[in-house]
Amino acid sequence: MTFSVQGKVALVTGANRGIGEGFVQTLLQAGAKTIYAAARDISSVQHLVNLAPSVVKAVALDVTKPGQIIALASEITELDMLVNNAGIIDPARSAAADAIAFARQEMEVNLFGPMQLTSALIPLLKQSAQGVIINISSIAAISNFPSIGTYSISKAAMHSYTEGLRADLSGDGILVAEVCPGPTDTRMAAGMDMLKPAPATVAQKTFAALAAGQLEIFPDDFAKNMYALFRDAPQKLASTFAQMG
Ligand SMILES: NC(=O)c1ccc[n+]([C@@H]2O[C@H](COP(=O)([O-])OP(=O)(O)OC[C@H]3O[C@@H](n4cnc5c(N)ncnc54)[C@H](OP(=O)(O)O)[C@@H]3O)[C@@H](O)[C@H]2O)c1
Repeated sequence: MTFSVQGKVALVTGANRGIGEGFVQTLLQAGAKTIYAAARDISSVQHLVNLAPSVVKAVALDVTKPGQIIALASEITELDMLVNNAGIIDPARSAAADAIAFARQEMEVNLFGPMQLTSALIPLLKQSAQGVIINISSIAAISNFPSIGTYSISKAAMHSYTEGLRADLSGDGILVAEVCPGPTDTRMAAGMDMLKPAPATVAQKTFAALAAGQLEIFPDDFAKNMYALFRDAPQKLASTFAQMG
C-alpha cells in the first residue's frame, strides 16, 4: 500500500513549537482528516487550531504523566499515525558528576513517555488500514555526541526501542519509522552555530521517505553525511563526534 497522509488521523506530541509544529503544518497541507496537536499547555497550540479548527484539535499531554496518557487514549476513537516528537535536551557529558540526574530526566521524556503513549495507542493503530508510528530520534542516537552525552544515551535507547517495536508490529501491518535529524532550526538547537534546516522540512522529508518505503530516515545533509561515516565504519562517526565536542 502506498503511504499517504490524505484523510488520515494523526497525533503529534510536543506540537506547539519546533519540529512538532512543523509536523502539524505539513499534515494539514497534505490533507490529514484530523490532527491531534498535543501539548503540555493547550493554549500554546491555539495558533495551529486557528489554521483549521475542524481539522486541528488541541489535546493536553505531558508525556511523563501516565494519567494524561490514559485520559487521551480513552478520548480518541480513531488513529492512523502517532508522531512521538516531544523531547528535551540537558547537555550533560557522560562523565559529569551529575550525569545520572540529567540522564534520568531525559529518559523519562525521550523514552519512557513515548513508550507508554505508544503502548496506550497501539490498539487504535491496529484498527487502522495503514497504521504508522514515527519516532523522532536523532543522529546522536547512532553514535554518542560527547557534549550532549546523556541526551545521546536517551536517543540511542529510542533507536533500540524503535527497532524492537518495528519487529513486534510488523505482523499487524503497522509501519514504525525512526527519524534521525541533525541540528534543526528550533529552540533546542538555538546554541548551535551551523546550518540548520527549518523544522517543517523534517516532516516533509519524513513523509517523502515513507512514500519511498524507507523507515530509517535521515532528513538533512548533516545527518546523511554522518550516517554515511557510520556505515563505512562505526568508529569513524564516534571519533568525528568526539572531535566536534
Ligand atoms: N532541533 C534539533 O536540532 C533536533 C535534532 C535531532 C532531534 N531532535 C528531536 O526533535 C524533537 C523535537 O525537538 P525540537 O527541536 O522541536 O525542540 P523544541 O523546540 O525544544 O521542542 C520540544 C517540544 O517538546 C515538548 N516537550 C518537552 N517536554 C515535554 C513533556 N514532558 N511532555 C510533552 N511535551 C514535552 C516541548 O513542549 P513545551 O513547549 O511545553 O516545553 C516542545 O513542544 C525532540 O525529540 C528532539 O530530541 C531535534
